[in-house]
Amino acid sequence: MARIEAGGIVILDYGSQTAQLIARRVRDLNVFAALLPFDATLDDAGREVPDFRGIILSGGPASVYEPDAPGLPGWVLECGRPVLGICYGMQLLTQALGGRVAGAQQREYGQAAVEVVERGALFAGLDATQTVWMSHGDRIERPPAGFRVLARTANAPYAAIAQPERALYGIQFHPEVRHTAHGQAMLRNFVLNVCGAVAEWTPEHFIDASIARIREQVGSGRVLLGMSGGVDSAVAGELIHRAVGEQLVPVFVNHGMLRQGEPDAVLELARTLGWKLIAVDATEEFLSALQGVSDPEAKRTIIGATFAGVFEREAARAGRLDWLAQGTIYPDVIESAGTGRPGARRIKSHHNVGGLPEHLRTRLVEPLRELFKDEVRAVGERLGLPEAIVRRQPFPGPGLGVRCVGEVTWERLETLRAADAIFLSELRAAGLMDAIAQAFAVLLPVRSVGVMGDNRTYDEVVVLRAVTTDDFMTADWARLPDDLLARISSRIVNEVPGVNRVLYDVTSKPPATIEWE
Ligand code: XMP
Repeated sequence: MARIEAGGIVILDYGSQTAQLIARRVRDLNVFAALLPFDATLDDAGREVPDFRGIILSGGPASVYEPDAPGLPGWVLECGRPVLGICYGMQLLTQALGGRVAGAQQREYGQAAVEVVERGALFAGLDATQTVWMSHGDRIERPPAGFRVLARTANAPYAAIAQPERALYGIQFHPEVRHTAHGQAMLRNFVLNVCGAVAEWTPEHFIDASIARIREQVGSGRVLLGMSGGVDSAVAGELIHRAVGEQLVPVFVNHGMLRQGEPDAVLELARTLGWKLIAVDATEEFLSALQGVSDPEAKRTIIGATFAGVFEREAARAGRLDWLAQGTIYPDVIESAGTGRPGARRIKSHHNVGGLPEHLRTRLVEPLRELFKDEVRAVGERLGLPEAIVRRQPFPGPGLGVRCVGEVTWERLETLRAADAIFLSELRAAGLMDAIAQAFAVLLPVRSVGVMGDNRTYDEVVVLRAVTTDDFMTADWARLPDDLLARISSRIVNEVPGVNRVLYDVTSKPPATIEWE
């Protein structure tokens, strides 16, 4: 059977911050795209994307004339496929084909207007003036022989060049970022019209292919899955369940630190999907291990170790197991391959689960390893998983344990759950959930004085945290409307016993982290 990745695009990663975005944008065209290290071989490329139709060279921080600059593999120009070089990628093409690259007098960073002097295939259907995003120090001084100028700016006389006969294109700006107004149209022109890539990368095709692949991989083996209630384990589990039915052995460990209603939602999901879920309520075990502990790192270590112990124990009861399912997604794979960094290639992937039988650690089923997070959600939607799971915001493995600052007790967890539920339900009612990457309440181990009715109170403090971010590496605090904050605060102090003060966290990341512990 032909692989679903066939006929897609290979992207070589030269370390640009936006290299992953190129892959995402190409996939928005329903074309598979793989991000490979810049020193990938032709065999690597063909293995990841059989019958690939074109190559995109990403931008990167280096200068082509530095001694250790990452170079252009010979096969890129020898294999006869179309090539699009972006920024550093364009400079590499230019250098490899005998043109000249030099440092610009002036670094160019930000939006710029380019004048399209010849549309060619790349700018087909686009206006003669384009707003684009520039971020470069070097620039092209002389294009290689046979290249034509397609576009220029005041600063960069060769903002886009092409040798259409060989389907070689170079652009100085970044079409993958939203600041380039028609960047997606340019990528479409290259990917679909110049490369003739196969546009069949859709959730439906992915599901069919994934099910077939899992069946082939797993055979009659039994597959252990840790079910967390998050979108990744739910989607991975359902793909495996559709592929091999009751050979899936899903285990749900309730550590007592999930949000309000989540344990029931996991049980309900398993019932709806017809999974034979092994559900363990290990709340007591976790809470007694955490007794008296308030150091954040110690809490994390204890929660991790207890989880591994319980999971392993349940797995041992489940009989013969041949495979371990993991919800590894594409950014994890790229990260562990270190694609854009010289010398950091293919460090093996994460192993999230500690003390399992040795044989399981290398017998991994990873149905999501090619998907970006938004693609996982699209597949989940297509599989008919409930919206609450598909749209669920990221939630840390140690759960509310790291949001209950100080000692974790059942009582404090209940307080936090109640406050958190009010916060989230108000955000939902205000229609703000989609605009916010992550929102949650934190309970502080601090008491403050208040007055309720005629009585003095001396109760705990709840902090509300809501952030906007694309990548969770940096984040900004969300500007929530005052009246919404007022309503949430009033509801929490009135409805949640033991809380008399509510704060809103107005710190970005960095310097703060998103979580408090
Ligand atoms: P920080 O707090 O480091 O969090 O800014 C970044 C993102 O990671 C999530 N997070 C975790 N996720 N296990 C996880 O699976 C963890 O131990 C963990 N700690 C933080 C956090 O919620 C945010 O989305």
